[in-house]
Amino acid sequence: MYGGALLPSQQSMQLQSDLTISRKLREKFIEAKRVLALTGAGVSAESGVPTFRGGGGAAVWKGMPFDVISSAQMVSRDLAAVWEWFDYRRRLLSSLRPNPAHLELASWQTRFDDFRLVTQNIDGLHQLAGSKSVVELHGSICRARCLTCHARQEIDREGERSDACMQCGDLVRPDVVLFGEMLPSGAYEAAAAAAENCDLCFVIGTSALVYPAAALPTIARDAGAFVCEVNPERTPLSDLCDEVLTGKAGDVLPLISASVGI
Ligand code: OAD
Repeated sequence: MYGGALLPSQQSMQLQSDLTISRKLREKFIEAKRVLALTGAGVSAESGVPTFRGGGGAAVWKGMPFDVISSAQMVSRDLAAVWEWFDYRRRLLSSLRPNPAHLELASWQTRFDDFRLVTQNIDGLHQLAGSKSVVELHGSICRARCLTCHARQEIDREGERSDACMQCGDLVRPDVVLFGEMLPSGAYEAAAAAAENCDLCFVIGTSALVYPAAALPTIARDAGAFVCEVNPERTPLSDLCDEVLTGKAGDVLPLISASVGI
């Protein structure tokens, strides 16, 4: 175990897999004060949550691509179908548990002076793992929002939900960002501020195709942060990253911690 310093002779560290955590990343991890982790669907893949893309396929629901069923137009055209898709996904999630990647990220929040976890996921698994103050860029499957007064209400992961707003009685919709919609007010601003101010940025399990989330690592890089990607596949961001760790988040994140002796 290293007491906060690297052994001078080691340029990189080979762990039990083929993966090598570079000396530079270990130094950055030890020295960093402000850390941003941006996560996407891949971080929940090992919990059993299907990703949207990657692995050669894209999600389809009853013949509709996910970007059609999860669109703002569908809320006006067929709210019941939108709820059917989100209820299905919420039921699927109710039996799923955080995996080692979620747990590792939860443990990192007390390691750094300032650790900001920004997720595109709506599954709530980061919070179940113990992460606090998670910036949810795309909302949560465990909340509904009124179409009229915009009041939000929690939905039990496993239980029934109401179709009506508790405040005004009008219909509610899933409190998630659908295709064609803006991000929740304040969420992107908080994430961009964290990106501008971080020393170290992890990009974990995202195809980096959906903006504005995909812009965050570039903001961090331009502001001088060391950027590290964790993904079994390359993405459009891979070339700008200082380090690309090719592997599953549930394997790689614990290896990063192990490489610095935590
Ligand atoms: P995607 O499904 O687009 O990408 C998942 C990424 O995870 C791919 O790059 C995979 O290679 C990677 N991956 C798969 N298994 C992994 C593992 N075990 N460990 C690490 N990475 C793994 O998911 P997102 O990038 O999150 O938005 O998608 C972004 C947004 O697109 C979603 O938030 C959603 C969707 O439209 C909305 O619904 C608004």
